[in-house]
Amino acid sequence: MEALKGVRILDMTHVQAGPTCSQLLAWMGADVIKFENPVGDATRGQLRDIPKADSLYFTMLNCNKRSITVNMKSPEGKQVFVDLLEKCDILMENFGPGVLDRFGFTWDKIREINPKIVMGSIKGFGSSGPYSDFKAYENVAQAMGGAMSTTGVPEGPPFVTGAQIGDSGTGLHLAIGLLAALRQADRTGKGQYVEVAMMDGVMNLCRVKFRDHQRLSRQSLAEYSVPTYQNMGDVPRAGNDSGGGQLGNAIHCKPHGANDWLYVVVQEAVWEDLANRIGPDVGVPDLAKDPRVASISERRKNQTLVWTLLSKFAEKYTKRELMAILNPLDVPCGPIMSTADLATDEHVRGRDMWVELDHPQRGKWWNVGMPIKLSASPAVIKRSPTLGEHTDEILEEVLGYQKDKIAGLKNAGAFSLPPKQVA
Ligand SMILES: CC(C)(COP(=O)(O)OP(=O)(O)OC[C@H]1O[C@@H](n2cnc3c(N)ncnc32)[C@H](O)[C@@H]1OP(=O)(O)O)[C@@H](O)C(=O)NCCC(=O)NCCS
Repeated sequence: MEALKGVRILDMTHVQAGPTCSQLLAWMGADVIKFENPVGDATRGQLRDIPKADSLYFTMLNCNKRSITVNMKSPEGKQVFVDLLEKCDILMENFGPGVLDRFGFTWDKIREINPKIVMGSIKGFGSSGPYSDFKAYENVAQAMGGAMSTTGVPEGPPFVTGAQIGDSGTGLHLAIGLLAALRQADRTGKGQYVEVAMMDGVMNLCRVKFRDHQRLSRQSLAEYSVPTYQNMGDVPRAGNDSGGGQLGNAIHCKPHGANDWLYVVVQEAVWEDLANRIGPDVGVPDLAKDPRVASISERRKNQTLVWTLLSKFAEKYTKRELMAILNPLDVPCGPIMSTADLATDEHVRGRDMWVELDHPQRGKWWNVGMPIKLSASPAVIKRSPTLGEHTDEILEEVLGYQKDKIAGLKNAGAFSLPPKQVA
C-alpha cells in the first residue's frame, strides 16, 4: 500500500518550489489535486520544446497529480474551492505575498472552514519581517540565503549552483513540515499553518558556511585553500574546496574536456596509500613522508602541492580510469557526471532515477525518478495531467456534484476565464 494513501491534497502551487513538494507527496501515494488557474500553471507553456505540448518544465514537476481548473475570481469558483477545502487534508500554495488573502481566504478563514486542514505555504521570505512583501525566484533565494556569496572563487563573481536549492530545496523542507503537521492533526484533530521561506531554506542548506563564519572570529580557516584570517568577516568563496574536515578538490583528467574531472577527497586515513601510489609516478617517491605534506596540518598548508601532484598524475588517465585506480585504495572520489553521463548511467537506471514516461501531447519523455525509496511502498511514476484533465472527475468523485450542477457551474464560468470584453 502507498504510504500516503487516503491523504488528499489541494495543491494550488505553481512553478517549481511548491510542485516539487506535491510531486514527492504524490509519489508517496497522496491524492494530489492540482488546482489551477484556468490558463494553467505558467510553466506549462514556458521553455517549450514541442509546440502546444506541456513543457518539460511542467511535466517533470507534476507527475501523479490530477488537474482541475477553477476560476477563483468568480463566486462559483470560490464555492468549488470551499467544497474541496472541506474534503482535503492539506492545502498548499506558493503564490506571491497576499494572493490568497485577496481571494478572501486568510488562514483564519481557511481553518474556520476546515479546522483539521494543514496549510503549507512557501514564500520567498515568509510572512513576517522587512522582506515579506517581496516575490522570489530560485536565484534570488540563492543570493539572499548565503549560497551565492560562498560559491565561486574569491577573485570572480559570486555564482549560483546548478542544484535548485532555492526552489526544490524549499519544496523538500515543506514536505517535511507538512508530514509532521499531518501527524499532529491526526492526533489532535487540529491543523496548523506550515510556512517555509526560500531564504530560510537556503540558509539551512548553507549551515556549514555559518559554522565557518563563527570560526573566523577565533582563527583563520586552515582547511581553506584561499587566504583566510581571524576576523576577516565574510566567509570567502573557496572554489572546489571540500568544505569539510577532509581536504578535497576536483582534478582535471584526460582528455581535459569540460567534464573530464574527478573529485578526490584526500581523507586522512588514505593519505599514505594514495601518496605511495602517485608519488613514484610524479617524481616524489617518498611523498607519504615528505615533510611538506606528511601531516594533516602540513597538507592543509601546502594543499596546492597535493593538487598539483595529483593533477600531474591524472594527466595520463581519464576520470573513470583514475577512479578505477583510486577506488581499490579506498580513496573517496567521484567523476564529475554530465547530464548525458547520468542519463545513460547503469547505476542511475538500476535505481529508477531516470524514468521513461509517455504523454498524450509529447510522446515519450524522461523524468528524474523518486529519490526516497520506501521498501514497502515503492513509487510508481505516472505522467503529469493535461490542463483540467480531471475537472469533471474530481467534481463528481470528490465533491459528489451531479452532472447538471457541473454544467450550470461551467456556464457560470467557474472553471474558465470570462470571455474578453469586445469594445
Ligand atoms: C513565483 C512568483 C514570483 C510568480 O509571481 P506571479 O507570476 O506574479 O504570480 P503570483 O503568485 O504573485 O500571482 C498569481 C496570480 O494568479 C492569480 N490566480 C492564481 N490562481 C488563480 C485561480 N485559480 N483563478 C484565478 N486567478 C488565479 C492570482 O489571483 C494572482 O493574480 P493577482 O496578483 O491579480 O491577485 C510568486 O508566485 C512568488 O513570489 N511566489 C512565492 C515564492 C515562490 O514560490 N517562488 C518560486 C517559484 S518556483
